[in-house]
Amino acid sequence: MKSPICDMLGIEFPLLAFSHCRDVVAAVSRAGGFGVFGATAHSPETVEQELRWIDEHVGGKPYGIDVLVPENMATAGEHPTWQELAARVPQQHRDFTAEVLAEAGVELIVEPRPADEPQPFDPDNALRVLDVAFRHPIKLIANALGVPPPEMIEMGRSHSVPVAALVGAKEHAIRQVKAGIDILVAQGTEAGGHCGEVSTLVLVPEVLQAIKPIREVPVLAAGGIMNGRQMAACMALGAAGAWTGSVWLATVESETSEIFREKMIEASSRDAVRVRSRTGKPARQLRSTWTEAWERSPNSPRALPMPLMSLISRDAFKSIERSAAAGNPKARDMVSYFVGQGVGLIENIRSAGQVVQEFKQDFLEAAERLNGLLEE
Ligand SMILES: Cc1cc2nc3c(=O)[nH]c(=O)nc-3n(C[C@H](O)[C@H](O)[C@H](O)COP(=O)(O)O)c2cc1C
Repeated sequence: MKSPICDMLGIEFPLLAFSHCRDVVAAVSRAGGFGVFGATAHSPETVEQELRWIDEHVGGKPYGIDVLVPENMATAGEHPTWQELAARVPQQHRDFTAEVLAEAGVELIVEPRPADEPQPFDPDNALRVLDVAFRHPIKLIANALGVPPPEMIEMGRSHSVPVAALVGAKEHAIRQVKAGIDILVAQGTEAGGHCGEVSTLVLVPEVLQAIKPIREVPVLAAGGIMNGRQMAACMALGAAGAWTGSVWLATVESETSEIFREKMIEASSRDAVRVRSRTGKPARQLRSTWTEAWERSPNSPRALPMPLMSLISRDAFKSIERSAAAGNPKARDMVSYFVGQGVGLIENIRSAGQVVQEFKQDFLEAAERLNGLLEE
């Protein structure tokens, strides 16, 4: 396909797949798309292992890496360890967590952390992870939640690797283009994970229009794209391709649990709610008794700001998944994970390669349908 993204990334079909799962990344790239490995929760050591595995399984095809360096965080300018930060979690929030889990019969197991483990979303850790990543044949680095630090843009430049940034508003797109990024991901509110308030259908043309007078960079559409028909619609809007996340959660390769897969198939698009109760920033995830308790319960102390909320939610969700897998129905009700409104379109679990092939097929049929409308 002729798209600036295909030329920039060396791919045949401009379908990008964000995933925290190395198997999905390798499978998508092998099938002609472009896998992007979400490395936020990794250390330099673990990312080295993951990327080495991808190199061995990607069949020489290109792939990228995504880190998350938030511009605004409660600990901006500091670099506390996980343990130091844990001391700042208010007792009220610990008590509420214990109460919510106890009500569901879930035992909270707090994972011991090494003394030097950095805080969640630590910017210096992200740069160290990128240092390791550049020892591998990565073809893209991406960042979310703000303008990447200048060091990141410089790293991309010096290795001739394009730098992408996720944005949820045109104002953010303008700042990113001025800062020097190479690719924009215009991510609508439909998206799984952290997102803004503007829908993909409005955001994509709005971003294209806003950056035109400054510098025209390729814009990938994201948010709610689960099939090739939607991808074609976004490219009709002017997008250079699609950036996707949720659709890969419903693949055999993905990191999701059996229970979460069942819940995705049961869910409608209205079950994907944009709430703070996992990371402290608004992020779209599956509604569950956990999200309801933090958002609606009269006793809720409300979510802590990023990165503090992750100190509560990471152990809580591991404990919830463990208990649900052991057959606790109330824990099952509490199971949740980031997922977008496109969850309403999930009907079954397929292989990642099959998803890529069906995207191509659906894209072609959509393009032919439009062409057919113009024929006499
Ligand atoms: C489970 C999950 C985790 C995500 N984590 C990140 C992340 O760490 N960094 C990031 O840039 N985007 C993250 N995202 C957002 C994706 O990069 C992507 O923009 C989004 O999934 C697109 O919308 P869709 O989910 O409707 O396809 C995540 C999305 C999901 C579903």
